[in-house]
Amino acid sequence: MSPTPPETAAAPVHGRSSQGARTTAEQWLPGLDGLGYGGDYNPEQWPEEVWERDVELMREAGVNLVSIGIFSWAKLEPREGELDFAWLDRLIDLLHGAGIRVDLGTPTASPPAWFFRTYPQARVVTRDGLPLDFGSRGMASPSSPDYRRLSRRIASELAQRYGQHPAIALWHVHNEYGAPVSECYSPASAAAFRAWLRDRYGALDALNAAWGTAFWGQTYGEWDHVDVPRATPSVVNPAQVLDFRRFTSDSLLECFVAERDAIREHSALPVTTNFMAAACPSVDLWRWAREVDVVSNDHYLTAADPRSHVGLAMAADLTRSVARGKPWILMEHSTSGVNWQPRNVAKRPGEMRRNALSHLGRGADSIMFFQWRASRSGAEKFHSAMLPHAGTSSRIWREVTALGAELASLGEIRGSRVRTEAAIVWDWESHWAQDQPWRPSEDVSHRERTEACYDRLWRDGVTTDFVHPEGDLSGYRLVVVPASYLLTATAGANLTRFVADGGTLVVSFFSGAVDEHDAVHPGGFAAPLRDVLGVGVEEYLPLRADESVAVELGAALGGGTVRADVWAEHLVIDDAEVVATYTDGPAAGMAAVTHKHHGAGSAWYVSTRLDVAALAPVMHAAYAQAGIERSALPDDVEVVRRRGDGVDHVVVLNHTQDAHDVAVAGTDLASGRTADVHAVPGEGALVLRVSR
Ligand code: GAL
Repeated sequence: MSPTPPETAAAPVHGRSSQGARTTAEQWLPGLDGLGYGGDYNPEQWPEEVWERDVELMREAGVNLVSIGIFSWAKLEPREGELDFAWLDRLIDLLHGAGIRVDLGTPTASPPAWFFRTYPQARVVTRDGLPLDFGSRGMASPSSPDYRRLSRRIASELAQRYGQHPAIALWHVHNEYGAPVSECYSPASAAAFRAWLRDRYGALDALNAAWGTAFWGQTYGEWDHVDVPRATPSVVNPAQVLDFRRFTSDSLLECFVAERDAIREHSALPVTTNFMAAACPSVDLWRWAREVDVVSNDHYLTAADPRSHVGLAMAADLTRSVARGKPWILMEHSTSGVNWQPRNVAKRPGEMRRNALSHLGRGADSIMFFQWRASRSGAEKFHSAMLPHAGTSSRIWREVTALGAELASLGEIRGSRVRTEAAIVWDWESHWAQDQPWRPSEDVSHRERTEACYDRLWRDGVTTDFVHPEGDLSGYRLVVVPASYLLTATAGANLTRFVADGGTLVVSFFSGAVDEHDAVHPGGFAAPLRDVLGVGVEEYLPLRADESVAVELGAALGGGTVRADVWAEHLVIDDAEVVATYTDGPAAGMAAVTHKHHGAGSAWYVSTRLDVAALAPVMHAAYAQAGIERSALPDDVEVVRRRGDGVDHVVVLNHTQDAHDVAVAGTDLASGRTADVHAVPGEGALVLRVSR
């Protein structure tokens, strides 16, 4: 089955329609034939003599795309209204002369010192009322009218000057919206939040109802009394917090759209902004991705995690999913260690290549780094770069040039798609709702369950999309719902229809507890899923820290006993089959895992926390029902496939130290060898061309 790319819940950006947005998402980067390769280039940190050498070395490394201008506002506009483009003219012409395409940044993630002196009220204010000052980076308050006016103006000036320049392939608005800070509690933000709420609810009565303000006597009688969720004596109204997070994402998105539209007045080139899918919890990328022409993403390994390649794969799959299956750009990753984690572990030889090829295999058509040349000064001098402090006589440089040459030879992959049969439900709003205090157990994490389910699928070699719970599920055989705390009635109906139509659904505990206002569903916990699951949740039974329970698996799950922790539930069985039972703990004797045939499909419910190994019996049974084949590869050998016209490309990544044989008939593009079985060396990788 080849699923159609999933659509997402289609509410317009609040307060304004996204209908007018021109979509050029089908177009690839003008002037770039093959895969893009390069990185952030910050030449303002270097004397101009160095630029010539940079460009020479870029050519040596196979660089064909660089991102510039991202932090250049102070250099472009040294005093308010005084613009200096001469240096940028020289730089762009230099790159153009060398055939290197430009991803031109708007510098609005870092307004200059004069901005904060002239407009101190534009500073971001923290929840504790502290204004954040200049001397670092980070945008001003997204709701500041001065920030909005001046960021739109600098974007417009850049577009007027360079919008037709033949070197420019792409516009790169801002940098990582939502980081390093997202929420702002300034007076301008409070006023904008009230306006957003009036737009959303119309009448104050509707807001009072949605926020459940009858609880703890919070009823509002005047709009002016409604505020951002400031520091309060006890827990803040969770529905208010949820709306504030929605507002924050929307207000940042308005900043992006304003700059994008200013650019579009002067340039028809595609516009992106670099996301941090899976890493930045504060922006709802289902909504954002509809506003960019090309999705781009930044990803950094979690050095403390010895299996960080799984987190990488998850971020790449999420990025592809928000891009609705279209090719995307890996805008930033690192050649080796970063500088901002507690222990910045260097990448092992070959690891950078495997990382890059994993992104490629999961749909990236450009592989970029932060950054080209390592900075001598400032906060990031210990961050790795394509051209490290050690210069060209270094392991990193050798690997960078080798990767450049390899990617140049893989241009035929560009434009092909990754097809998946399985999807995990992902909704930023559910994370915002669940990650609040006073939930049944602090040990339950939406993120942890998502990662555990993803890891299970990854180990089984099942490439996975992410999908919004109200999105189009019709292309999938299997959908997994991982502790999805917030599920609307619409989402429940969508998941139910998916099963009725023949899909296989696996739902974990603590899913569907609340609706879009963080209110428990009428009918109780998980009520929107009751029909499809054939079970009701009478009571949550969180476990003590370090407590575990025994779960006896029935014949449908292959028998035996597994241990589970964190959580149990008192289930009420309507018309489901009990396939595993608690044998001790607070739910002893009750159903732990259930299964129900519903319409043409079937639904599994797992009411406790099974670790990645213990999830196997349930997931394997679900694959069997869904007709999904799991791979027989050794642990930590990763295989991903991109489908082109009549030809597939299979990327094989060996994250272990031992060589393994992989039975995929095809041609190894590096050696030209055609065979049915390929040996992939320890910590090595292969890209195979496979005919269909
Ligand atoms: C990114 C950021 C870059 C650089 C990088 C370092 O989040 O966009 O500008 O700071 O981190 O890892």
